[in-house]
Amino acid sequence: MIRNFTSTSNLGRAEALSLIKLAEDIRAQQNSPQLRNLLAHRTVANVFYEDSTRTRISFELAAKRLGADVVNFSTNGSSVSKGETFYDTIATLEAMGLDAVVLRSPVSGAANDLIESGVTQAAVINAGDGTNEHPTQALLDALTIRESFGLSGDEVFEGLSVLITGDIKHSRVARSNAILLSTLGAKVTLCGPTNLLPEESPLDRVGLTHDFDEALASGPDVVMMLRVQKERMDQALMQTNDAYIAGYQLSSSRASRLPSQSIVMHPGPMIRELEISSEVADGDRSVIRKQVTNGVFARMAVLYSTITGGAALDV
Ligand code: CP
Repeated sequence: MIRNFTSTSNLGRAEALSLIKLAEDIRAQQNSPQLRNLLAHRTVANVFYEDSTRTRISFELAAKRLGADVVNFSTNGSSVSKGETFYDTIATLEAMGLDAVVLRSPVSGAANDLIESGVTQAAVINAGDGTNEHPTQALLDALTIRESFGLSGDEVFEGLSVLITGDIKHSRVARSNAILLSTLGAKVTLCGPTNLLPEESPLDRVGLTHDFDEALASGPDVVMMLRVQKERMDQALMQTNDAYIAGYQLSSSRASRLPSQSIVMHPGPMIRELEISSEVADGDRSVIRKQVTNGVFARMAVLYSTITGGAALDV
């Protein structure tokens, strides 16, 4: 049972599988009228201190499709501009009655700090905290990999190889996926140029490489491309676009050398023609739209599980 959802490192294999299967059950029952009442009279606050398209809208739809009331808070247009602190803002929302806080913050560790502060009794869900974690992104990615490779029940990712490429150093998506996908048995390799790759792997079981072409030649089942996050980088760390494209863009020529079953993923937002060519992003191997669709089901599972304390799905 999960009370909060702030990190993939808190999930063992059984717990991760159980959440994924819950999301799959919800996907299978998506047109059931009972689904729309499961979180009736519950309130979910989307608290976003950083920009977002996919995650914020996905959580909003997930909460509404379970019948919850939703409030969307963003710093623009709020009393943050008048100097109100983060904790006073959450305490204000808490006073109106909350069951879950979905928090996106530029501060690494913000979701765990909020739990430890005791300011809210609501379930806290991390929607991306600085360069630390984005656990619901990893969950929706695992759901998409299962769907793409036809896995079901207790089948996990043993024998599956995943290559995650790009700005690994600043990527909360890379960290959450490296942890979750390897917990589920995948062989995960992280790839990027020297200045965008950590010196040490976040986990013993996760490999590191600078050589994208060599990593592609090993025939990964999943190639997950990441956005180059210029807003998180020291200017000095950035290579020229041309150098980055030459070494690390997933171009159609590189993608054509992959085994036929390999899929291409990207959490979005994409910088087309930088880390990925449009031809690949929109091509047959791409499951990028499928990731977005699964994001709603993954977040419905997380909201339902945290708010109800792990109740069985009754639809
Ligand atoms: N993948 C993702 O987190 O996208 P947004 O920043 O648009 O939410």
